[in-house]
Amino acid sequence: MCNFSSISLLLISVGYIYICSAKQNKSHDWDILIFTQHWPLTVCLQWKETQAQHSCIFPPVKNIWTVHGIWPTKLGKWGPEYCNVSLHFNKTQLEPIEQELEQYWTDIHNGSTYKLWKHEWTKHGTCAAALHDLDMESKYFGQGLKWINQYQMANILGMSGIQPNNRYTAETVWNAVQKWLGKNPAVQCTVDPKTNETYLFQIKICFDKNLTLTDCDGIKGTSDPATGIKTNCPLKETFVYPSILPPEYGKPLDTIERPVYGQHSWLLEALHVIQFLQWMTS
Ligand SMILES: *[C@@H]1O[C@H](CO)[C@@H](O)[C@H](O)[C@H]1NC(C)=O
Ligand SMILES: *[C@@H]1O[C@H](CO)[C@@H](O)[C@H](O)[C@H]1NC(C)=O
Ligand SMILES: *[C@@H]1O[C@H](CO)[C@@H](O)[C@H](O)[C@H]1NC(C)=O
Ligand SMILES: *[C@@H]1O[C@H](CO)[C@@H](O)[C@H](O)[C@H]1NC(C)=O
Ligand SMILES: *[C@@H]1O[C@H](CO)[C@@H](O)[C@H](O)[C@H]1NC(C)=O
Ligand SMILES: *[C@@H]1O[C@H](CO)[C@@H](O)[C@H](O)[C@H]1NC(C)=O
Repeated sequence: MCNFSSISLLLISVGYIYICSAKQNKSHDWDILIFTQHWPLTVCLQWKETQAQHSCIFPPVKNIWTVHGIWPTKLGKWGPEYCNVSLHFNKTQLEPIEQELEQYWTDIHNGSTYKLWKHEWTKHGTCAAALHDLDMESKYFGQGLKWINQYQMANILGMSGIQPNNRYTAETVWNAVQKWLGKNPAVQCTVDPKTNETYLFQIKICFDKNLTLTDCDGIKGTSDPATGIKTNCPLKETFVYPSILPPEYGKPLDTIERPVYGQHSWLLEALHVIQFLQWMTS
């Protein structure tokens, strides 16, 4: 009796360990890469909302979207995450591109310089590293910089007349990005619990393992059953694409001190022109 149950217990445990380790292993597979850009002002708003004394760091060039991360993902699931513990974050490898990262992959949350990059590398980069094109920090972060310039949302939205300091519907924003890319994005909003106001927050675009644009349709998240539009933003009502922090959160953006490097702005301007020409002729 006693023996029987011990043996069953043992068998169950062995089975459990076997299944779990197989699952763990398999869970490192992924289908596509989500490239997520966020709007710094909304990120700041969320950050300040969690604690009043939080301060924000904005990218030196105004009115650009910045990189949140490149996230390998299995369709219909979150993750995988933290795929390879032996790929330690090494800040030395980012030194050559550090200034660009501060500009385009800014840690809006005021914290230590490497916090966001270390987090993104450990959680997502170690999974993306399954691809030869992304198997080192310099490649992973370099790819983020390439994409944020090529697919800068301030420009893409701007082409359709979508500008900060206005209200839009999910369909308007989603359509603008879809029209530019020819692929389906995902648009995310966040609600400010202090005012119940909804703000445009993040835009995700997706790439296959050849780093070619692809639809984000299968990724986890809410979509509108009627249109298939992937968004958690309100579908009927408008939301804010903010240009200043609401008064509840302190000073307007223009009075928040931020470092000025400025040497990349000519590059950004050139990219605006190139993107506009591409758009005109496409
Ligand atoms: C998956 O698990 C097996 C057995 O546990 C192991 O031999 C193999 O190296 C693992 N593969 C990966 C990619 O972790
Ligand atoms: C994790 O990274 C190490 C160091 O680059 C590499 O040798 C190893 O194959 C990787 N493991 C997996 C499961 O990818
Ligand atoms: C970090 O990378 C640098 C340059 O590639 C290398 O010299 C150094 O040994 C690495 N440090 C660690 C802790 O791996
Ligand atoms: C974060 O903000 C606080 C208060 O504004 C400031 O004292 C601190 O130096 C900042 N930390 C960093 C790393 O910028
Ligand atoms: C926000 O909405 C919640 C629930 O609908 C309501 O209880 C709360 O009073 C609202 N707050 C404001 C500031 O409108
Ligand atoms: C990537 O490109 C290769 C060669 O062009 C092709 O065979 C393969 O199917 C592509 N993979 C994906 C995921 O598109």
